[in-house]
Amino acid sequence: MKIVLTGFMGSGKTAVGRELGRILGYPFVDTDDLIEEREGKPISLIFKEKGEDYFRRIECETVKEISLKKNIVVATGGGVIKNKNNVENLSSGGIIIWLKAEPGIILKRIATEGGKRPLLDVEEPLEEIKKLLAEREGSYKQADVVIDTNYITPGETAREIMEKLSLDMQEVNVDLKDRSYKILIGRRLIRNIGLRLKEFRPSRVAIVSNKTVFPLYRDIILGSMDESGIVPEIFLIPDGEEYKDSLWASHLHGELLKARFDRDSLLIAFGGGVVGDITGFVASTYMRGIKYVQVPTTLLAQVDSSVGGKTGVNHPLGKNMIGTFYQPVFVAIDIDTLNTLPAREFGAGMAEIIKYGIISDSNLFDSLEKDKKDILSGGKGLLKAIRRSCEIKAGIVSEDEREAGLRAVLNFGHTIGHAIETATDYRRFLHGEAIAIGMCTAAELAVKQGMLDKEAVSRIRGLIGSYELPVKIPGDIPAEAMIDAMEIDKKVKSGRLRFILPESIGSVRIVEDIDRGIIREVLEESKSN
Ligand SMILES: NC(=O)c1ccc[n+]([C@@H]2O[C@H](COP(=O)([O-])OP(=O)(O)OC[C@H]3O[C@@H](n4cnc5c(N)ncnc54)[C@H](O)[C@@H]3O)[C@@H](O)[C@H]2O)c1
Repeated sequence: MKIVLTGFMGSGKTAVGRELGRILGYPFVDTDDLIEEREGKPISLIFKEKGEDYFRRIECETVKEISLKKNIVVATGGGVIKNKNNVENLSSGGIIIWLKAEPGIILKRIATEGGKRPLLDVEEPLEEIKKLLAEREGSYKQADVVIDTNYITPGETAREIMEKLSLDMQEVNVDLKDRSYKILIGRRLIRNIGLRLKEFRPSRVAIVSNKTVFPLYRDIILGSMDESGIVPEIFLIPDGEEYKDSLWASHLHGELLKARFDRDSLLIAFGGGVVGDITGFVASTYMRGIKYVQVPTTLLAQVDSSVGGKTGVNHPLGKNMIGTFYQPVFVAIDIDTLNTLPAREFGAGMAEIIKYGIISDSNLFDSLEKDKKDILSGGKGLLKAIRRSCEIKAGIVSEDEREAGLRAVLNFGHTIGHAIETATDYRRFLHGEAIAIGMCTAAELAVKQGMLDKEAVSRIRGLIGSYELPVKIPGDIPAEAMIDAMEIDKKVKSGRLRFILPESIGSVRIVEDIDRGIIREVLEESKSN
């Protein structure tokens, strides 16, 4: 993100800009310094020798060049924001912040700063400052954020900006060339979501959510939009997997058309995986694709469905069969939203986090064992586990966006998990719970195949069980029904039954064509009594 600081001299642009740059690790530039460097002389001399028009032209060129940079803190000279083109250039991909101060305080600051300030050379400097401020106020008001700097230090101002823009969060990059985006992870993110949207300058914004989640966060999210001058449309779908279908997608398309959303509009998916999948699908198909943002509110959606750009709806003949690969412009994971998530849903998300540990990171697995108490109480351990999970998924997606190969490892536990879901008509278990059983059973299958030692299986089962997740196949599900379900599962490629099996904790391998007799044996042995 580009952070642009504007304001009168003495408002602290340089000190605040330096501090922000230091905290964020972004370069800090001052447009006046750049111009002086470019021209090889002080601004006063440029004015004197070549006139104001010349200076403003160079200023516009400098601003245009800076505007192409992404992660940078920019302090602007007093006149920059007076020019419409400059404001447009700086706003694209950036947030403009007005550091505001009262005339008396400005005078005090520039007097104590020392140096030659022409403003102090007039007879009534305070009156001069008041006059100039009144003249510029209209331009400053174009800023996206106003920070009152009167009684705070530059350090405090920088911290206030960090908080307002939710910059004190963690970031994970999903690297997909021109479709790359960031996953922002932190607390209080939805309180500032409006400001984050400004970076994309959408013509219209709609929040797509459901009737359970939206009322819980309505005031916070609408308050944030209001603060940023955004008046969103709100489209709510009923709560439930059964509404993730083409009828509801078509209804949403219709609402967007009725509200005259154009190609520069933006959708916010605010909810769990159901809301995320259908919103992404609608965004990808409306007018051949408009921007969307994922704001996942279930743990499963935060670590899995919101990352990677798989969108879709269900069809009567198959789950998730109609869909697209379409990446959001960013993902904002506000872990405070998990406070209202039912415990069983939280557990289902934990199954996916455990999956990441088993498929690619034994350290994550270790910390899930060690930090269980902290994770369950929503402490730092949870933030760490979510972040690591997103990193792992982002890494895999970056290498294999369209599931041509590597991405398949994300399906660890899914072959058996899906079979359990099908055999129980998707009614008995949440997806994550079925995957939990699927992972334990796949680990047993790996032992049978001579790939994994027994100690690893008992650690896997122990960890999954410790998060209150099921580890055994219910005794009443016939093994044959599960095998039948596996055969018709969409992951059976060219007639081959495919399993992702662990070789150790932190590493998996794709194994095909396992003898059906062995599979049946493992399924029987993995049943609860
Ligand atoms: N696109 C992908 O890559 C991908 C990956 C995995 C799963 N999925 C899809 O995700 C869906 C499952 O997602 P899910 O597990 O998030 O289910 P969900 O969206 O149905 O949410 C589960 C329940 O929690 C409620 N809820 C959500 N956030 C809440 C909150 N903060 N407080 C209180 N209640 C809240 C929801 O209203 C719902 O009742 C499935 O449709 C699945 O196909 C997609």
